[in-house]
Amino acid sequence: MKVLGIMGSSRRDGNTNDLLDVALKGAAEAGADVEKIILLDYNIHHIYNCQDCKRRGECPSDDWPIVRDKIFAADGLIWATPLYWYTVSGLTKVVLDRLCCTMYWYSPEYFLEQVKGKAAAVIVTQEEKSFEQTQHLLGTMKLVFGYEFCQWVDLGYVIGIGGSRGTVLKIEETVRQAYELGRKFAQFKSG
Ligand SMILES: Cc1cc2nc3c(=O)[nH]c(=O)nc-3n(C[C@H](O)[C@H](O)[C@H](O)COP(=O)(O)O)c2cc1C
Repeated sequence: MKVLGIMGSSRRDGNTNDLLDVALKGAAEAGADVEKIILLDYNIHHIYNCQDCKRRGECPSDDWPIVRDKIFAADGLIWATPLYWYTVSGLTKVVLDRLCCTMYWYSPEYFLEQVKGKAAAVIVTQEEKSFEQTQHLLGTMKLVFGYEFCQWVDLGYVIGIGGSRGTVLKIEETVRQAYELGRKFAQFKSG
């Protein structure tokens, strides 16, 4: 089981990264191979809707193919994002949008073959204490997971409350939930 953590915060050492690390530790300690990508480290521009992949077989010059191939190679995806204006971060949204390059224009069938049946989950960090604020983000991700050309198996989510760096790790119950979420990935059997 290969688990890919997709870290979508603008702070590489912030709450989102901390909580994702806990989940990946849970997955690794339960036997999974884990990898984390920090989206800040990649140059992935917003979608141009250029359809160059269809015409030339490849995306134009940015790091998208690297990230795409890591997503394709993983059996499980943990999408870790801070809540920004009640939805996913821009870094995360750009990756979701760029999935459409392969999905719509290159080949939906090829895309589905690469991604179908993966386990997927969400880790969200936010400052506001009410989980009502998170419902829009969770609803969006649930629809993404269930989309006909994704068909990912939803392993759930963890919400961490945090403002300044390090605060989310002070909430024991949240840390436990993130660790358990990671373990679920290791125990996941596809099909
Ligand atoms: C641009 C921006 C928008 C934000 N929007 C929200 C929001 O809508 N609701 C909320 O509870 N927190 C919001 N926050 C706070 C962050 O979600 C919170 O501090 C989170 O823990 C940051 O994660 P990080 O430590 O990984 O950077 C926002 C922060 C930023 C920078």
